[in-house]
Amino acid sequence: MQKRAFITGVSGQDGSYLAELLLSKGYEVHGLLRRSSSPQHSTWRLEGILQDRFKLRYGDVTDSPSLLRHLEEVQPDEVYHLAAQSDVGVSFRVAEHTANVTGLGTLRMLEALRAVCPGAKFYQASSSEMFGVSSPPQNENTPFHPRSPYACAKAYAHHTTVNYREAYGMFTTSGILFNHESPRRGENFVTRKITRAVAAIQAGLQEYLYLGNLDARRDWGFAGDYAEAMWMMLQSSEPEDFVIGTGEAHSVRDFCELAFTEAGLDWQNYVRHDPAHDRPSDVDYLVADPSKAQQKLGWKPQMSFGELVAEMVRSDRERLRRFLENESHKK
Ligand code: GDD
Repeated sequence: MQKRAFITGVSGQDGSYLAELLLSKGYEVHGLLRRSSSPQHSTWRLEGILQDRFKLRYGDVTDSPSLLRHLEEVQPDEVYHLAAQSDVGVSFRVAEHTANVTGLGTLRMLEALRAVCPGAKFYQASSSEMFGVSSPPQNENTPFHPRSPYACAKAYAHHTTVNYREAYGMFTTSGILFNHESPRRGENFVTRKITRAVAAIQAGLQEYLYLGNLDARRDWGFAGDYAEAMWMMLQSSEPEDFVIGTGEAHSVRDFCELAFTEAGLDWQNYVRHDPAHDRPSDVDYLVADPSKAQQKLGWKPQMSFGELVAEMVRSDRERLRRFLENESHKK
């Protein structure tokens, strides 16, 4: 029988890759979409996949009645909860909002599931940010030490997911995902900010790129590979939590060097420090120990760091080229 999936945060980077993956596997996919005054801006990642088996539903993870109604109607086999206020830097400025969306949003989802479809399998998008300053490499047994309102909210959501598994016997799992990027990454995250700037600087449209902490090290993988891991986790016979990452760390400085080199530029001529982008407390070094996922799920990242950076730079140069071409036609 055809399986039904329900995805919150479907219009984000991960939601779009996951929706594509599930549709390719024959699922009927229902995506929760927040109302926006400019709908085309919120659904640009989904443009290629609008088809019969894919349905968008208006709702919000801060609005329990909408969650209850949709879940009751859809009766999904699998629920992927990806919706969040996901910008760590911004979470310091909108801490309460972040706790409400990113933390309590998970509680509302789990309560709605428990009420109307308790047999559905549930995936929680947990984050490596929860580890904060705990020593690398981080695995499923590493203690949490969150360093931002975002990470605190994710830690709450993570523990709540575990609690619903233990208290009510529900099939709830958390994927503790390390940073994952792609050409669909939001422009506020450091990787996409860099690759967009490379394209603009090369085209003579921007002089400098202003960044915060260049020393931060992250484990950057390709988002498409991580959507596969989410799906694999819900195909397991037992609900368990998994760390998902590549096991390789690079600094923001390394990312800059590689991205500018890709376009034949020397990053040192263009990158400048702006303290406005420093966070009140940052996370210096995250790198995954993904051995559990490799052994139990057979999951492995397919795209290397070098390929990822090259693909993001290529895509941003191409986007800018198309944009400039359109602008010149308008004249
Ligand atoms: N965004 C941003 N902008 N980050 C900068 C900048 C800048 O101008 N300059 C330096 N950085 C540093 C940040 O201080 C941080 O140490 C690092 O670059 C990565 O920042 P982000 O790309 O914003 O990602 P993140 O690691 O904070 O969080 C992302 O990954 C998490 C998974 O570990 C987000 O996608 C989270 O939602 C996700 O949970």
